[in-house]
Amino acid sequence: MKEINVGIIGCGFIAREKYVSGIRKFDFLKLIACADIRADAARQMSEDLGIPRACSVEELLADESIELVLNLTTPQAHTPINHQILDANKHFYVEKPFALTRDDAQAILEKAETKKLLTSSAPDTFLGAGIQTCRKVIDDGWIGMPTAATAFMAVPGHELWHPDPEFYYAEGGGPILDMGPYYLTALVNLLGPIKRVVGMSKATFPERVIASGPKRGNRVPVDIDTHISACLEFESGVIATMIMSFDVQAHSLPHLEIYGTEGTLSVPDPNIFQGPVRVFRPNQQEMGWQEMPMISPYHMESRGIGAADLALAIRGIRPHIATGELATHVLDAILSIEESAHKQEKIDLVTTVKRPAILPLVSRIGDIA
Ligand SMILES: NC(=O)c1ccc[n+]([C@@H]2O[C@H](COP(=O)([O-])OP(=O)(O)OC[C@H]3O[C@@H](n4cnc5c(N)ncnc54)[C@H](O)[C@@H]3O)[C@@H](O)[C@H]2O)c1
Repeated sequence: MKEINVGIIGCGFIAREKYVSGIRKFDFLKLIACADIRADAARQMSEDLGIPRACSVEELLADESIELVLNLTTPQAHTPINHQILDANKHFYVEKPFALTRDDAQAILEKAETKKLLTSSAPDTFLGAGIQTCRKVIDDGWIGMPTAATAFMAVPGHELWHPDPEFYYAEGGGPILDMGPYYLTALVNLLGPIKRVVGMSKATFPERVIASGPKRGNRVPVDIDTHISACLEFESGVIATMIMSFDVQAHSLPHLEIYGTEGTLSVPDPNIFQGPVRVFRPNQQEMGWQEMPMISPYHMESRGIGAADLALAIRGIRPHIATGELATHVLDAILSIEESAHKQEKIDLVTTVKRPAILPLVSRIGDIA
């Protein structure tokens, strides 16, 4: 496959820690430039990680050799940067969330369709071995018909480790916009689209104290709710119970579980690519929980797999899986939970989406590129 030149906009934590090394694992993705609103951040990342060119966002977008841009900015910048990328006639992969409002997400999808460009969004962890194996377990009938699910993400707050955590506590941040995409994308992949939701939410602490990096000790005001409980009804009739919280010091809840008519599936952390995937079946009680073999080689940190999957679609090899439409449906679910909490009523989603395709069982993505 002909190589695809890639540019990164947003040279912060996740770009430096995960994406630069992640996309370099795919030899058809060629990272040639990086840009940031902070010129020094782009220059430093280019120097530290050997990226050929650091430049301004405008210069990166004017480079006609770049076909695919990774938008790794903070959530509040996702929509304007997504538009700028499309206006420059390039395809994009954006970190989550895809946008901050349904109208913004829809406008991006419409612009992309008009311009015949492709959009893709984090998370790509559901393309990893853990969630893909769970998908096969369900599709092969190991737990019978899914009837219910639980999804729990509860931590004390990202200010404990992130050096610039302010965005998590501003409009566009919060536990469900930040971590909900991992859990909800995994659930939609496993169970299909969501129909309606009900939610309750609160903010336990009015401010947070940064615990690491140069800003250690700085106080951050909390502008959003930081503890959310929700129930979700899927189009299939499955009912899921969910907690997303930055207010919990410790817990012993599972990440995700799917309950079926003939067994239970214990799903690994959807924020990572690994297992274990475990199944309990009452007709094999003597075996207890059985650990399932992984069906894919992506059982290590593999951020960048979504961009690689998108690159195959750009070259017309097959449609990509982590689509903007999927991310828009997940955003719709998140915003509906937030609205439900504020209005104290059930909310029907305004979008639906096809259950994503399973990642083809090739040994590695590059093998078919
Ligand atoms: N930190 C994590 O562990 C993590 C994990 C998964 C996903 N994410 C997601 O990745 C995204 C970035 O998170 P991060 O932790 O790297 O944040 P960060 O603040 O460390 O980095 C974001 C970078 O984007 C730049 N930026 C902001 N607005 C911009 C604009 N308009 N134009 C150009 N550059 C701009 C900032 O200057 C900064 O360098 C977020 O959407 C976050 O949800 C983060």
